[in-house]
Formats: sequence, C-alpha cells, structure tokens
Amino acid sequence: MSLHFWLLSLGAKNGVKGEAAASDDELTSDVLSHYSSASESTSVVEEGTGSEQVDEQTAQEETEDKLKLCIDNLTDKSAKTRLAALESLRQAFSSRVLYDFLTERRLTISDCLERSLRKGSGEEKAASATVFALLCIQLGGGDEAEEGFKMLRPPLTATLSDSSASIAARQSCARTLGMCCYVSSAEDGEDLIKSLALLESVFMSSYPNGEGVLPTPKPGSAGLHTAALQAWSLLVTICPTSRLTVLLSHHLPKLQACLQSSDVNYRIAVGETIALLVELGREIDEEFEVEDGESLCECLKSLATDGNKHRAKNDRRKQRSIFREVLHYIENEDFTEEKIRFGVENVYIDSWVRRRIYDAFKEILESGVRDHLQFNQLLRDIFGLGPPLILDAAVKGNKISRFEKHLFNSAAFKARTKQRNKVRDKRADVM
Ligand SMILES: *[C@@H]1O[C@H](CO)[C@@H](O)[C@H](O)[C@H]1NC(C)=O
Repeated sequence: MSLHFWLLSLGAKNGVKGEAAASDDELTSDVLSHYSSASESTSVVEEGTGSEQVDEQTAQEETEDKLKLCIDNLTDKSAKTRLAALESLRQAFSSRVLYDFLTERRLTISDCLERSLRKGSGEEKAASATVFALLCIQLGGGDEAEEGFKMLRPPLTATLSDSSASIAARQSCARTLGMCCYVSSAEDGEDLIKSLALLESVFMSSYPNGEGVLPTPKPGSAGLHTAALQAWSLLVTICPTSRLTVLLSHHLPKLQACLQSSDVNYRIAVGETIALLVELGREIDEEFEVEDGESLCECLKSLATDGNKHRAKNDRRKQRSIFREVLHYIENEDFTEEKIRFGVENVYIDSWVRRRIYDAFKEILESGVRDHLQFNQLLRDIFGLGPPLILDAAVKGNKISRFEKHLFNSAAFKARTKQRNKVRDKRADVM
C-alpha cells in the first residue's frame, strides 16, 4: 500500500523554532497513531503504480548491493581500492540516511576503519576518520555508535597527537574526535575532559609565547589548528558550568592575541570561538565582561574593516562580514539570525552555539546536511525538529516499512536521548 501524500499535521507546523512545543512522548505517539489510522483507511490512500514501486525497490537494492561491495573493498590489498571504497562510502553516508543497513554492519565497518586508521597512509587515515564520523552520525550517537567509538578512539587520538603524522590525517581526526564525542551517549566527564585537553594541546601551539609574540606557523599547521579549535568549541557547548568558567578565563585572552594570526581561516575560527565563549559566559552570568574588552573591540573593528591590500580580495570580504557580526554581538548582544531551508521545513540558527553545532555537521555532511536534517533523528533531535515529516516520495513503495520502522526506532531513540541527558547531568557532578 502506498501513500501519495501524507503530511503529519503536527509537522505542518513547519519551521519549528527552538524546542518543539509538545513533549517528545506526545509527538512520538502522535506519529504512531497517525500512521496506523492512515494506513487502515483506504479513502486517503491512492495506490501507486506497480512499476514505480518495483523501480524504487530495485534502486534501493542496487544501492545496498553496491555498498556491500564497497565494504568488501575496505579490506582489499590495494591501497587505491581501499581509498576508492572509502570515498564511495563517504558520499553514500553523507547523502542519505542508512540507519538499518548500517546498524547491521556497524562492527564490520568499524573494524575496517580501525585498521585503515592504524596502518594506512596519511590519505587513508584522513578518509577513514571522516567515514567514521559519518558512521557515528548515521547511527544516531546511541549505544551502537558508542561501541564503534570505543574501538576507534585510541587510533584517532594517537594520530591526532602524533606530530609526525600527516597534517590532513590529524585534521580529520580532530574533527571526528569532536563530532563523535559530541554525539556519543557514553561520553562520561573524564572522556570529555581528555578530548578537550588533547584538542587544546594541538591549537595551543598557535598561542603567543611569554613575551606575547605569536609563533611562526609551520606550513599547513593553520588548517590543523582551525580543525582542532572548531572541534574544541563544539565540545565546549556541552561542558558543565564549573569547567566552562575555567576555560573562559584561560582561553579568552590567548585567543584574542590569535586574532593577529597570518591565516585568514584561522583568524575567522578564532573570532567565532571568541563570540561563542562570550555567549556561554553571558549565559552563566548576565554581567559577564571580557577582560580588556575595549582592545578586543578595537581589534575586531580593524578586522571588520580590513583593507590590507596584501590580503586576497575574497579573504578580506569573508573576514569583514564575519568580524562585523562578532563585533555586533560583543558590543550589542546582537545576532543575525540565519534560516536554513530543507524540504518543506526550516531550521533557525539564532546563536553562536547553534551555529557551531550546525557548521560542525555541515563540515562533515557537506550538502547532505539537508537530507540528514530531514530524515536523521539525531539531527532532528539536536535542532528540536521532532520526528521526520513523511512526504510523498519517502513513503512510496517498500520504503513505507522502513519508515514505519524508523518511527518506532525514533521512539527508542528518545529513550536513549533521555538516557544521554542523564549521563550529561551526571557528568556535571563528575567535574
Ligand atoms: C572494488 O574494487 C574493485 C577493484 O579495484 C573495483 O573494480 C570495483 O569497482 C570496486 N567495487 C566498488 C563497488 O567500488
């Protein structure tokens, strides 16, 4: 039986802003009852043509068969074949939600990725770390993702802290460590602290020395510092208050000095991190003031109007617009809200914390972030979007059963999320 158009009434509240209004349990049971009543009543159902269904099913099977071959190729003797397989998986994982398929194969895949991460070339290490981040996002950060993370954490941290390893590999490991730690339900306080410390140790080599002089960056290191700083600021968003206060007073003055870095992307990451830290500081204490705020604003102002002709035109434009926003925020607590459209919904980016989280997913999922916002319960949960809306194309043919399953899974997911929040609360006690 195929439904041509079935839009859940609760979801019609499109452009959910902030947290969904109804409680999660209400939403879930609403979806389930809508589902069963719709499927029983033939009057609202139009049959799809048989051939469409067959086409869809065939396409689905072909995709899965191809993915199975890619997974086999992960253990191929030839490095070139393994790299090609990693690239195919990266594309597949970022462009569609494959929860059922990957849940069944998660251990096999994690195993292969671990081996590539330990033994592969720099390029293979970088690719396998990225695919692992995607796997964590696909599995929803629950127990399944956690199992894999236990296995992958040692080689990820080993590569990240190995200064002789390839920069691209370390960069990818920094990003993956941040993302998997952010979504993992198993993260206890100690693991979070360890990840923060490791990421700090990487980007702190960009900090000024005792005389306040910035070190001359090694070639390529700005990209690594950027990735580590961004992964760190993602994790800072789940840090308990007591810890946050310490981080703010230590890092804000040092980061301020890094605004003079010679690398435009690093300067931008530093500016965004400063804004995020100030936002978190203001959440803890309305009266929060940046130490030496006047000189910070001067510095931001000069970056927001930077006319330095030695810098490329595009770099200057990008830098100016971001530093204008940072300056507005520091001076007036003003944030320019951004609306991200996907499917028939929107998500609103209305704070520096939300922006960091969204950007972190976008860095890994790239253009696939929109599909994941639409169908991946993890992202929907993080952005307060409720269960996925079910629309025409998605419920045709055999996908209906997958979606039905997915909705039930989402009920299980809610339970896990609650568990995870409990873990986070406990974590606050640990630190
Ligand atoms: C697996 O590797 C072989 C040998 O390199 C290649 O011919 C084949 O296309 C690969 N399979 C997939 C699905 O990428």
